[in-house]
Amino acid sequence: MQYDFDEVVDRSGNHAAKYDERLKKFGTEDVIPLWIADMDFRTAQPIIDALKARADEGIWGYTARPESYFQAICGWQQRRNGWTIDPALMSWSLGVVQSLSVLVELFTPKGGAVLIQTPVYSEFYDVTEAWSRRVVENPFVERDGKWTVDWADFERKLDEVDMFLLCSPHNPLGIVWTPEELRRMAELCIAHGVQLVSDEIHSDLIFHGKKHTPVAKLSPEIAAHVVTCISGTKTFNLAGLQASAVVFPDRRMKKEFEAFWRRMDIHRNNAFSLIAMETAFNEGEEWLEQLLPYLSDNFDFIRDYCAAHIPRIKPSVPDATYLVWLDCRALNMSNAELRDFMIQKAKLGLNEGWSFGRQLSGFMRLNAACPRSVLEQALHQLEAAVNAL
Ligand SMILES: Cc1ncc(COP(=O)(O)O)c(C=O)c1O
Repeated sequence: MQYDFDEVVDRSGNHAAKYDERLKKFGTEDVIPLWIADMDFRTAQPIIDALKARADEGIWGYTARPESYFQAICGWQQRRNGWTIDPALMSWSLGVVQSLSVLVELFTPKGGAVLIQTPVYSEFYDVTEAWSRRVVENPFVERDGKWTVDWADFERKLDEVDMFLLCSPHNPLGIVWTPEELRRMAELCIAHGVQLVSDEIHSDLIFHGKKHTPVAKLSPEIAAHVVTCISGTKTFNLAGLQASAVVFPDRRMKKEFEAFWRRMDIHRNNAFSLIAMETAFNEGEEWLEQLLPYLSDNFDFIRDYCAAHIPRIKPSVPDATYLVWLDCRALNMSNAELRDFMIQKAKLGLNEGWSFGRQLSGFMRLNAACPRSVLEQALHQLEAAVNAL
């Protein structure tokens, strides 16, 4: 089947946080929302069909999670990434962020510390601070628009922390880590006795011939030291259905994780997420293979448009995710000025760069998972606003 990602879908009656929370987030509804990480595209038709059939059943009582649920995830990982997962070491949660949060609480000591590589998905700060753990930052080093790991700093900081939260691939910089880089990070964690947690939620959204490597796939020694969080919600635009999976190194950690949720009686999927995830992983590949080139063309469109018309804004084309990191430093604005400029002058709802790296100034993150015509309009508005400065 041929999918049309150019179609503009009206999400105004969709209870979409991306649209309906504009007033709360930006103080106005008059912005094109290119912020929170979901897509303005309808998902794969087999998923829609399966959910319609589930809806037609008319009974959505307590829902059991069959083995086929985990088998669908394992099959996907095997086919796409060559990663063989032992289903006995898998667990489930409502979302990757919830998993990260519980992992911080359970597997770091009270008063402990967590290492993150900044800029990074802002919830990495939040889930750490929510449990009164200390955030230790290993800031990326930027040279000519390329961001790389400061390895000496990384190793030094490992001495201070109990856990390392890895974003692989990386949001917001769109980095696909090489096997060598991942091995180096994992081996350093092992040597320093630091628990490695790898958030691989963006691992299906990969471009430019790059390949995602699940860090746990690198060796049995590394697999025995890493907790991996995966999900189909980013890949297939199902975030509102809330479901994710966790792969543990051993049964003890899995048991502790499950006991945490059971205390709150959170242990079942909702009736719709179950069928959506299974169908996505079993039948969603055709849709994904059409989505990826569309997203990649969106990145190129942004790069070319900015180069030709808004040279003071420098987008970095990501190798992963659908999130574009915008270097706006040439506008010479403080973070507050840049935020106001984007909202009031360009009328764009973007994420502020400093929320991903609190020491940063002059960056924004743009969600490019929308029809090209929407991006075109957004960039016209940005161009006009910059020209009026
Ligand atoms: C790196 C990363 N992890 C987790 C999430 C959210 O995961 P979930 O919706 O499963 O909590 C996001 C969403 O943007 C993300 O970018």
